Amino acid sequence: MSDDSRPSPTGVPTAAVIPAAGRGVRLGPGAPKALRALGGTPMLIHAVRAMAASRAVSLVVVVAPPDGAAEVKSLLDAHALPGAPSGGRGSTDFLVVPGGYSRQESVKLGLDALPPEYEIVLVHDAARPLVPVDTVDAVIEAVREGAPAVVPALPLADTVKEVEPADTPGEAEPVVATPDRSRLRAVQTPQGFDRATLIRAHETVTDNVTDDASMVEQLGLPVVVVPGHAEAFKVTRPLDLVLAEAVLARRRMTDGF
Ligand code: C5P
Repeated sequence: MSDDSRPSPTGVPTAAVIPAAGRGVRLGPGAPKALRALGGTPMLIHAVRAMAASRAVSLVVVVAPPDGAAEVKSLLDAHALPGAPSGGRGSTDFLVVPGGYSRQESVKLGLDALPPEYEIVLVHDAARPLVPVDTVDAVIEAVREGAPAVVPALPLADTVKEVEPADTPGEAEPVVATPDRSRLRAVQTPQGFDRATLIRAHETVTDNVTDDASMVEQLGLPVVVVPGHAEAFKVTRPLDLVLAEAVLARRRMTDGF
């Protein structure tokens, strides 16, 4: 996407909510996942920079671990962020709120903190620190064009099986079905929403969900997919940290990121 086709800062007011309150147990013992370092910088700071890199995003709401809001606030203060003169704040504002016990609750707490003027909301996992700005802009553009909910997603490389989950981990599991891979997509973030729709979804849907768009689906409203990006992968397991470091090292070599 060229610079000219990017959503402009003067368009519909757009905010990003970053749930960053998870412990990240699958990554192994240590600090909350969002606060682990990548290339010497906390993963959360990369995620915040990725949202603020979009000219359209003028507010980033970070949802911190329930007992870590002060620590996260000082981390944001300590890192120069895009558009900001060194050590200062530029055209993107930041808010930090304490999170909840589930991702869903954390997102809801972030939404509760949004000032009324924001009409488009992105929800972005802190655990996807390297999403390129073009993906962020493509999501915003599709919401501006009228979709109530937009998700970036990629086709699957692996064939997927539905199984009857075993009671004991490691036990053989019977296969129930093999969905047609060509109709499946692996969904990433940021997911983009018309603000009123997302708020209604969070007020209405109480089932446990793993992404926000599925709550909008449960309202019976359309959700559309735009192309995702390989570098928007979620840092979940130790190997993902190795991959993330490699992506960062390549960016530093090619564009001094
Ligand atoms: O656990 P999972 O990897 O799906 O978490 C996705 C995102 O949701 C992470 O950025 C994590 O920090 C966040 N999260 C949260 N509050 C929770 C659980 C997860 O903000 N209680």
